[in-house]
Amino acid sequence: IAMSDPQVVWHQHSVTRQQRESLNGHRGCVVWFTGLSGSGKSTVANLVVEKLHAAAVHTYLLDGDNVRHGLNATPKMLAERHEESFATRFGLGFGAEDREENIRRVGAVAQLFCDAGLVTLTAFVSPYRRDRDAVRSMLADGDFVEVFVDTPLEVCEARDPKGLYKQARAGAIKNFTGIDDPYEAPSEAELVLPGGDLPAEELADKVVEYLRGAGKLG
Ligand code: PPS
Repeated sequence: IAMSDPQVVWHQHSVTRQQRESLNGHRGCVVWFTGLSGSGKSTVANLVVEKLHAAAVHTYLLDGDNVRHGLNATPKMLAERHEESFATRFGLGFGAEDREENIRRVGAVAQLFCDAGLVTLTAFVSPYRRDRDAVRSMLADGDFVEVFVDTPLEVCEARDPKGLYKQARAGAIKNFTGIDDPYEAPSEAELVLPGGDLPAEELADKVVEYLRGAGKLG
């Protein structure tokens, strides 16, 4: 347990992670996809889940766009139901601190899902190396598999599935990753996917192959 406060005491549960894992027939782990917006993180992660599910592996995908609709809602979303001050205090936008907190919360949720015995996939831009490394260090050795979806900015921008690059170029969206906010590529990712060169299906096969080879699938 990394943090402590005498007011909060850890409760040890009687059914252990190992017992859950032996019921599942495989271990839990966190497969952390990182890459630019439009790099293909969600598409590839979703295909990996399909393949693993078909192979009776217990999975869950935490996807940036979905998590930001609930747990990590933006201030604008929260303002629909809460006071402005509450929305700005607890909502998470795309400033550096908000992204840090986004990744910290997702890391904590992924840690719980991993403890639940699931192969937990996450698909967040997670542009800052420090934030990703902080999640890695929260987890036990070998539980964190960093997958860099290495798709060149030009390719992501040409795809622009949500029209956000266009808006960022026009200055309508500030702090957009790759445009006016940095993306810090991983230097020691467990797996690097050539997102601009291969179809998503083949990239997903590479992830499954890696996980099998690393003994993550039982
Ligand atoms: S982060 O950086 O990890 O906190 O971002 P994440 O939670 O993954 O959310 C990224 C998606 O939100 C859209 N979006 C932006 N991305 C980057 N920078 C800015 N300023 C921004 N504003 C909105 C964008 O569509 C990302 O979706 P994906 O699925 O990655 O394309």
